[in-house]
Amino acid sequence: MKLSRRHFIQLSGLGLMAGPTLVTASPQTETPHQSESGVRRLRLVLKPESHHWFAPLGEPVGLWAFDRDVLRLRQGEPVEIEVENQLPDPSSVHWHGMRIDNPMDGVSGLTQEPIAPGERFIYRFTPQDAGTYWAHSHHKTYEQLARGLYLPLIVDEQEPVEVDRDLVLTLDDWRLNEARQFDTASLGAMHDWAHGGRTGNLLTVNRQLQPRFKVKGGERIRLRLLNTANARIMAVRLPDLPSWIWAKDGQPLTTPRGHSGPLLLAPAERYDLVVDIPAQAQGALAIQLQTDGAPIDLALLQIDGQIDGQIGQGERDEPQPLPANPLPQLADQPVDHRVQLDMTGGAMGGLRQAVYGGQTLSTRELVQNKQIWAFNGVVNMPEQPLLEVRSGDLVEVEMLNNTRWPHSLHLHGHHFQSDLARYNQGLWHDTVVMASGERTKIRFRADKPGSWLLHCHMIEHQAAGMVSWIRVRA
Ligand code: C2O
Ligand code: CU
Repeated sequence: MKLSRRHFIQLSGLGLMAGPTLVTASPQTETPHQSESGVRRLRLVLKPESHHWFAPLGEPVGLWAFDRDVLRLRQGEPVEIEVENQLPDPSSVHWHGMRIDNPMDGVSGLTQEPIAPGERFIYRFTPQDAGTYWAHSHHKTYEQLARGLYLPLIVDEQEPVEVDRDLVLTLDDWRLNEARQFDTASLGAMHDWAHGGRTGNLLTVNRQLQPRFKVKGGERIRLRLLNTANARIMAVRLPDLPSWIWAKDGQPLTTPRGHSGPLLLAPAERYDLVVDIPAQAQGALAIQLQTDGAPIDLALLQIDGQIDGQIGQGERDEPQPLPANPLPQLADQPVDHRVQLDMTGGAMGGLRQAVYGGQTLSTRELVQNKQIWAFNGVVNMPEQPLLEVRSGDLVEVEMLNNTRWPHSLHLHGHHFQSDLARYNQGLWHDTVVMASGERTKIRFRADKPGSWLLHCHMIEHQAAGMVSWIRVRA
C-alpha cells in the first residue's frame, strides 16, 4: 500500500495548531455505583458527537460517540452496563476481546436485536481477563464505527500492576470531505468495499490531533495501543527507547519481548507495551506512523521534569510478565475439529461466483448485492455455521488468504494461538492479520456455548461478505 504524507490532511491545513494542550491521561477513576450484591452499575449513552475536534468552525456533522472517553472495569467484578441509544439509528455494543456469555456479545441480528433509538439494553458480565479491550457498535458496523462509535475498555488487574503511568492511545483515521467535515457521502462506497476498505485522511489519537502526553524522565510507562480504524493497518514507530511487548489483544505474553522497529497494528489489534523513559530525557518524543515517505507524528510524549527519587544512569530491570489470565490449555492437547477457511474475492481476486442467501450468484449479481468477498465460496452470514462443536472442544482452523489483500481475522468470545512463525509461544490473539497469499492455523478451546462470529475486521470486508460463525453447543 502506498502511503505518504500527502494522503493526510495536515494540521496546518486545518488552520489548527497541534495545540499546547497537555493531556494528562491518568487512569480515570470512576465513582463506583456498587449495589449490595457487589455488582457495579454503569450507564453508557450512544449519542451524536457534540464537540468539534477537527472542524475549525461549526457543528460536527455525522459523528457519533459514547458519552465517555475510556471505560475501566475490574477483573472479576461483575458489571451491569445500561446502554441507552440516543442516536437516530438502531445500534448495539460489542465488547471486543472479552470472553463473556454469548447473549451479552452485542452482535445485532445474531445475539440480540438492535437497540432501537430511545431504547436501552442492559449488558451483564464479569470480566474474566485483565487487559486492553474495546467496545464498539456491532450494528451496521462499517458505518457506525466510521462515525466514531467506539470506546477503549481497560480491565484492571486485581492487584495493581506497578508502573509510573498508564497511557491509552486509540489510533484512528477519519475521512473528511472538501468541507472538512466527516464524509458521509462515501459511506458504503462499493469501491472501498472491494478494495482495502474505507481509509481516512485525518489521523487522530484519542480523537485528538497530535495530542501531547505529559511524562517524566525516569518513568516506566504502560503504553496501550489500539487501532480502531475501519480498515487501515498502522505501522507505529515508537521513540527509540527501551520497550517490551507486554500483552497482545489483552492477553499477557508469557515472557515480555524486547521490541524495536515499527509495530504493525491491523484494525482491532491491541498491544500493551512497557516503555522506559530515560532519566535525562528532554523535550518531546514522537510516536509516529510509518509511511513510505517521512513518518507522521501521531502523538508526543512531552517530558515534564523527572520522577522523584534515585533513578540511576543504568537501565531498569526487564519487566516481569503481567499476571496470567485464566485461559484454557491448548499446548499438546488433541484437536477435536479441523476446518479450512478459504478466503477469496475482492478486487483483482477473480471471483467467478459464490453462494449468497443459499443461491449461487455470478460476480455481477454479487456486486449488485454489494457482496464480493467469500469464505469457502459463501458470501455474507451463512444460515449454517462454519462449524458446530461441543463446549470444551479444541478447534483448529486453517486459514488461507487467497486474495490480493491483507485481512484482519477476528473471532468473537475466544482467544486463539497461531502457528505463524513470527509469533512466540505464549502469544494469544483475538484478531490476527494475514498477508495476501498467507496460510495460518489457529487453535482455540470453544468453551462458551452460543453463536460466535468469525469475520474480517477490515470492516468493509465483513460488510461485503467476509463473515461466518461457529456454533458451540452446551
Ligand atoms: Cu470488533 Cu465483530 O468485532
Ligand atoms: Cu479483509
